[in-house]
Amino acid sequence: MPQSKFAIEAKNLRKSYGKHEVLRGISLKVERGTMLALLGPNGAGKTTTVRILSTLLGFDGGTVSVEGYDVKKQADEVRSVIGLTGQSAAVDEMLTGRENLVMMGRLYHLTAVSAKARAQELLEEFDLVEAANRPAKTYSGGMRRRLDLAVSLIATPPIIFLDEPTTGLDPRSRIAMWEIINKLKQDGATILLTTQYLEEADQLADKIIVIDGGKVIAEGTAKELKGKVGHDRLELTFGSAAAYKKAVDVLGKSVQETNKDDKSVTIILKDTNADVRKVLDILQKNKLRFDSMAVHKPTLDDVFLSITGKTKKGKN
Ligand SMILES: Nc1ncnc2c1ncn2[C@@H]1O[C@H](COP(=O)(O)OP(=O)(O)OP(=O)(O)O)[C@@H](O)[C@H]1O
Ligand SMILES: [Mg+2]
Repeated sequence: MPQSKFAIEAKNLRKSYGKHEVLRGISLKVERGTMLALLGPNGAGKTTTVRILSTLLGFDGGTVSVEGYDVKKQADEVRSVIGLTGQSAAVDEMLTGRENLVMMGRLYHLTAVSAKARAQELLEEFDLVEAANRPAKTYSGGMRRRLDLAVSLIATPPIIFLDEPTTGLDPRSRIAMWEIINKLKQDGATILLTTQYLEEADQLADKIIVIDGGKVIAEGTAKELKGKVGHDRLELTFGSAAAYKKAVDVLGKSVQETNKDDKSVTIILKDTNADVRKVLDILQKNKLRFDSMAVHKPTLDDVFLSITGKTKKGKN
């Protein structure tokens, strides 16, 4: 098997549907054993990219290799090293969870005995033992997602594509899915995950690529991306309208935002420690007491909004 540092490498991927250019030169690399999040809004090109990388869809320009195999010339080899789950999954609704797993095992040439054993292992791992003998159509959204993922892992592939694995799940199921995904990574898998949720990319991924309109608009670790946009912010809330008003006066132009209803002010911190100290000094000199004080780190939301130039509605 050809070996490079990268399990997945795409260079300058292009894809059009008629005149509509859906991918306009996407390049990405995923180091073996790491997780990359492809983050972007609806229609950004996430599913298209994943389908191309997993041999399901042709493309017009660029090159893609997975485990060193060329997706165009060596599609069978690529398929033998990947697991794919998500918006195009392969669960049969009429079969039970266990039957789906065993059937997929047989498709991957496991013997009847090993297919059964692997199915049981996955049912246990994905908390589906109780539902194992019910048809998949009776499963809840979260169970269905776990079965989708289990089915794609039957042959223990070293590279896993997850297309929006938690979209539409409630918060509890989402966290359960995050745990499963983290476990796959700990077990050594290379994972490419797509998501619309900044928090999800932040929680799970080693590296993030932000795409919009078929192009990469930013990439880096969550920390690097956050560092690009913003400084920490200090929020102070006061107990009375008078104290709030005086604070706005004495803090002067370091105040970036005021909120009269909350009696709060927000200050951008260029040097977090030194600036907080300065602000507290000013308050003390003026005998002003605050009710609450918090330092906020920039979120990936801030990052996304600042690079796409889309304005955030509402407060802050
Ligand atoms: N078969 C197709 N024919 C024509 N246009 C398509 C086809 N498949 C996708 N597109 C278009 O390509 C663009 C990218 O779609 P894609 O499904 O890759 O987006 P996505 O990032 O996965 O979005 P979502 O978050 O909604 O899943 C969209 O504008 C979509 O309408
Ligand atoms: Mg999609």
